[in-house]
Amino acid sequence: EPLLSSGPSFSWPTMTGRNQLQQFGYNNDFLALLEHDGHWLLTVNHESTSAQLMFPGEERYTSTNLKDAPVEMAAHGLSIVEVTQDADGHWTVVKDSRFNRRITLDTPMKISGPVTGYTRVMTPEDPQGQVVRGTVHNCSGGITPWGTILTCEENILYYFGGEEGDSQEELAYRRYNIGYSKAYRWYEVEKRFDLGHAPKQPNRYGWVVEIDPTDPASEPIKRTALGRFYHESANPILNKDGRIVIYMGDDGYFEYLYRFVSSQSHVPHQVQSRLEYGDILDDGELSVALFHENGTVEWIPLAFGTLGLTPENGFHCQEDVLIEARRAGDIVGATPMDRCEDVEPNPITNRVYINCTKNPKRGTKEYPTSGPANPRNENQSGHTIELIPPEQDHTAMVMIWEMLLMGTEPVESQESDADFLSLERGTEASTSTEVVLACPDNAAIDPLGRLWVTTDGSEEVLGIADGVYAVESTGRRRGELRRLFSAPMGAEVTGPCFAPDGRTLFVSVQHPGKHPSGKMTNLWPDFDPRLPARPSVVVIRRLDGGIVGGD
Ligand code: FEO
Ligand code: CA
Ligand code: CA
Repeated sequence: EPLLSSGPSFSWPTMTGRNQLQQFGYNNDFLALLEHDGHWLLTVNHESTSAQLMFPGEERYTSTNLKDAPVEMAAHGLSIVEVTQDADGHWTVVKDSRFNRRITLDTPMKISGPVTGYTRVMTPEDPQGQVVRGTVHNCSGGITPWGTILTCEENILYYFGGEEGDSQEELAYRRYNIGYSKAYRWYEVEKRFDLGHAPKQPNRYGWVVEIDPTDPASEPIKRTALGRFYHESANPILNKDGRIVIYMGDDGYFEYLYRFVSSQSHVPHQVQSRLEYGDILDDGELSVALFHENGTVEWIPLAFGTLGLTPENGFHCQEDVLIEARRAGDIVGATPMDRCEDVEPNPITNRVYINCTKNPKRGTKEYPTSGPANPRNENQSGHTIELIPPEQDHTAMVMIWEMLLMGTEPVESQESDADFLSLERGTEASTSTEVVLACPDNAAIDPLGRLWVTTDGSEEVLGIADGVYAVESTGRRRGELRRLFSAPMGAEVTGPCFAPDGRTLFVSVQHPGKHPSGKMTNLWPDFDPRLPARPSVVVIRRLDGGIVGGD
């Protein structure tokens, strides 16, 4: 959809990069709803593109055709859209709102924090190492106490190609899979993605980016003190002493769980821009989690000069530690996890939920076997861990961990393809009275403090569509599930986001209709044979206008 009423409407298959820059992007993921001066602003990540759904004849997520590269690029980034609710409760987009904005691969973003101006972030286009054009693979995110958005750069391996020509970066490239053979072909169109031309470019992505949706002229900021890895999400919580604590997962197989603790306390005061508050994120301690069998988890600081983060291991300063946080985690002995997706602190109970989506590789070949907090070998269904900070102190060096939920074991016989290949509106996915859940991914805490989880992978594991679940986290029904929403087949559900009154739940439906064969399995949500299936944001409300999940 165009973000302005004057913008070009969707035209398929004749899409252009120029039109796409004025339209809502692809694969919408994280959603954040903020109220500002009587306006509701919805910030949306556009994580990736799926060529097999976007361009006729394509079978993979990246297009083989170079002429598609400008469309793919323009469909990445973020959208900020004003939305409004009428008296009947319906939400609509305010076309022509002055807040509506696309953040794209051309939007300049300041590098902030320790890595600013460091040689390892310098490129021919930015010889000072201060400003990056754009952001990629914005997966999940978080909202700061001062009302800005943290958007997370996740699988950065897809964006760089060409001849690698920098032996200095060899270890970093290897540890972050840079030079991946199935990357987008953008490097053939724009030199900045060509590793031969700009070998340090990958070091400028993989960060957490802070955005102020209330100021359309504001420049996003890459906050480098939060470390560089495949950031799924960054969920801040205001600690009881005023410091900001951010929990973050790296969604790679056997990657780590991280925490940032600001050095200073957040003190509300007069500011020109909300992003000034964010400067508190430029100074603090990054640490990684080490889980123990006795039910405790220890946070190990990633500090240059300690625990082997020294020149012998290729770390010459704290900047190196931040740029290669993954390798720093290896050296200090962090616990390799089953793919940490959302890590969500509950502001009411101060407990923290970690969705480990899955890890079928665990315990196979040369890979690590089951261990504390990752108890299942060949873990296809994932699990959810709970952290309990002592005395509700999120800066504590040691916390308690407990298992909240183990994903349902895979079922042997799955739905046949025929059941998936329905192109009609209103066809039901397989229904079952037993509530099962596999591959927990994103999470949200509703205004009443209840945990909600969305999934990514149920189709493969259980033969059912992905969905949204309410999860009991306290009392005798702890771990009990209810399923609220089923996505169309092929989709994962991301970005659950409650309106502050708890009466609306927004969710993102990503890549509907996707099938490993490359065939499109449905035409959601238009069900128009002339249009492909399209990622979209869904609004869920009760017919009686009550609180979603009940009160
Ligand atoms: Fe982008 Fe970890 O999902
Ligand atoms: Ca995700
Ligand atoms: Ca996922």
